[in-house]
Amino acid sequence: MPDVRSICAIGLRGQMGLNGLLPWEGNAGPEFTADVERFFDITRNHVLIAGEKTISAIPDFARGDRTLFVIRRHMDPAQVLAQFSDRVVFVGGGPVAWGVYAPFIRHWDINRLPYDGEADRWFDPQWLLAGRATVS
Ligand SMILES: NC(=O)c1ccc[n+]([C@@H]2O[C@H](COP(=O)([O-])OP(=O)(O)OC[C@H]3O[C@@H](n4cnc5c(N)ncnc54)[C@H](OP(=O)(O)O)[C@@H]3O)[C@@H](O)[C@H]2O)c1
Repeated sequence: MPDVRSICAIGLRGQMGLNGLLPWEGNAGPEFTADVERFFDITRNHVLIAGEKTISAIPDFARGDRTLFVIRRHMDPAQVLAQFSDRVVFVGGGPVAWGVYAPFIRHWDINRLPYDGEADRWFDPQWLLAGRATVS
């Protein structure tokens, strides 16, 4: 059974995405650059499952030392996770994917960044309370 985790960053009101990018994309402030570095450190050598847009945003330098897997709506979450038994699997978004995989996530890593601008993708606190599900 994989150890299913989530890692994400949110703005002050739960902002997560804007026009296909992070809402704070290009912000060189220390909290923002540290967040990106931390994401790549924490997911290194593990499995990152996410929607196509999110996976395609992973830069080349980070593709060799982690397993990337694109999740599709026709896939059964339990089956997706079961193929990575004995690995640590991070659910990397986007928001629809978090909603679907939330019942399987044991550990949430949420970094709240000092951003209060617009967004078109939002964190949903209900994900944290999603009913328990198990993977065999
Ligand atoms: N702040 C953060 O931590 C963070 C992290 C990741 C992404 N983001 C942001 O989120 C945005 C990208 O996310 P996105 O959701 O737009 O695109 P996405 O990452 O491509 O995710 C959407 C895709 O998830 C797939 N999917 C898998 N299971 C699904 C299900 N049961 N129901 C529906 N779809 C399912 C679908 O693929 P198919 O259509 O192929 O089936 C869908 O197109 C960007 O703005 C990005 O910057 C933010």
